[in-house]
Amino acid sequence: MVVNPGEVYYNPRCREKVVIRTPAAHTNGERIIMDVYVDPGGFVAGYHSHPFSEERFTLVRGRLRVHIAGEDVILKETGQSVLIPPGKVHRWYSDSADDETFMLCELRNKADRFEKLVLRQLFGLAQDGKTNDVGVPGLLQRAVTLPEFADVVRYASPPWPVQRVLYGALAPIARMLGYQSCNPEYMERAPEETAELEELPPEVAAHHLIN
Ligand SMILES: [Fe+2]
Repeated sequence: MVVNPGEVYYNPRCREKVVIRTPAAHTNGERIIMDVYVDPGGFVAGYHSHPFSEERFTLVRGRLRVHIAGEDVILKETGQSVLIPPGKVHRWYSDSADDETFMLCELRNKADRFEKLVLRQLFGLAQDGKTNDVGVPGLLQRAVTLPEFADVVRYASPPWPVQRVLYGALAPIARMLGYQSCNPEYMERAPEETAELEELPPEVAAHHLIN
């Protein structure tokens, strides 16, 4: 199923809502731009990296704490932006106790694969209560899903070579138990709603190639 502008994807576990601004389909699968709304206390699921993609976060309103390479960067003014290079471990959190945070997230390279893994498979699992408290699926699910998407997202811990061995050993058991790398139901699950895209302040739009 193709991802379209204005579609809304929820991750209830992470308390985040994604509205699609530029889907991968508009850039030959190369880039995606997402409007990300984060409730107070919300966060992205687990420390992770994107081996071949760079990711940029630009604040529209609220406060966002981005942990990258062992340091916290706080985005607190409209138009403040941080670039995560390929392979750098990172995680982000709402840094506001009371207000919603709204930021733009742009991923360059592997965007079509990111849509499939994150917006459909991982968000689908979170919607069905099949992740832990920080939005990461259980070990058997990871064993079948993560090796297939190792070019898109890797969780930071344990080190990837250790994860590979572990997942390789567990994947046959997981498959026997019915776990699938991509659940057809999640691939086809229609977004609950579509939303009007907010007009962006020029200092935010300036960081992104919006089309
Ligand atoms: Fe990321």
